[in-house]
Amino acid sequence: MSSESNSRVPIVSGNWKMNHNHFDAIQFVQKLSYLLTKDDYNNVEITIHPPFTDIRSVQTLIDVDEVRIGLGAQHCHWEEKGAFTGEVSASFLTKLNVRYVICGHSERRELFGQTDEDVNRLIVSIVKAGMTPILCVGETLTERETGRTTAKVMGQVSAALQGRTPEQVSQMVIAYEPIWAIGTGRTATAGDAQAVVGAIRSQILESFGERAAMNIRLQYGGSVKASNIAEIMSQPDIDGVLVGGASLDPAEFARIIQFRLR
Ligand code: 13P
Repeated sequence: MSSESNSRVPIVSGNWKMNHNHFDAIQFVQKLSYLLTKDDYNNVEITIHPPFTDIRSVQTLIDVDEVRIGLGAQHCHWEEKGAFTGEVSASFLTKLNVRYVICGHSERRELFGQTDEDVNRLIVSIVKAGMTPILCVGETLTERETGRTTAKVMGQVSAALQGRTPEQVSQMVIAYEPIWAIGTGRTATAGDAQAVVGAIRSQILESFGERAAMNIRLQYGGSVKASNIAEIMSQPDIDGVLVGGASLDPAEFARIIQFRLR
């Protein structure tokens, strides 16, 4: 499915993973905000996803300096509170003005055993807490090479969104992140990324109707850099990017945000 004309605001997100302590985070936000113009903020929604320990510092800076960057988290637990050593609940994040939470990232799925059911529960808790989930989906290299990309990705999307209303889905973000492209320097061709992202939009149309399909924002992630952003963003169904490594450097991240000038 392709949507030639749409009013979706592009969304560029930086997933820092386990990088930058809270001192680094403060410097990053100061440097980034210095590099961005009013036009950048007007044209693109920007989110950053620092580690938990940075969030309070970044929140304070964003609030005091009125920086128009959306604060995001990389993870949370679906329970409200309780005996879950090491975890943080969605409502704790809302108290810090966190507005976006990444869920179902391939690193959480592969390294920490997160299942499709877990991701479904997480989305319920993130939405209930009033935040926007950024749902990650994507195939391994073997799955791609054996023609199972669509089946894998569509399966992840349908499991994660089961039980959601069209209204909830329309406000979500889904990031297509082929696992073989994450941190490898290998990027899906813009055409290949568009094919999968377009198929996700078609699936949303079928399951949740036209309004949800037209409004949900779909990102691509996997070795996105300033040098390949323009081509990726030129695809009709790609509304933004989820950036790992290249989001750690304020100058490079600013150039990605300014993709329209490229
Ligand atoms: P890289 O941009 O480092 O490939 O990471 C992508 C990613 O996993 C973002 O969530």
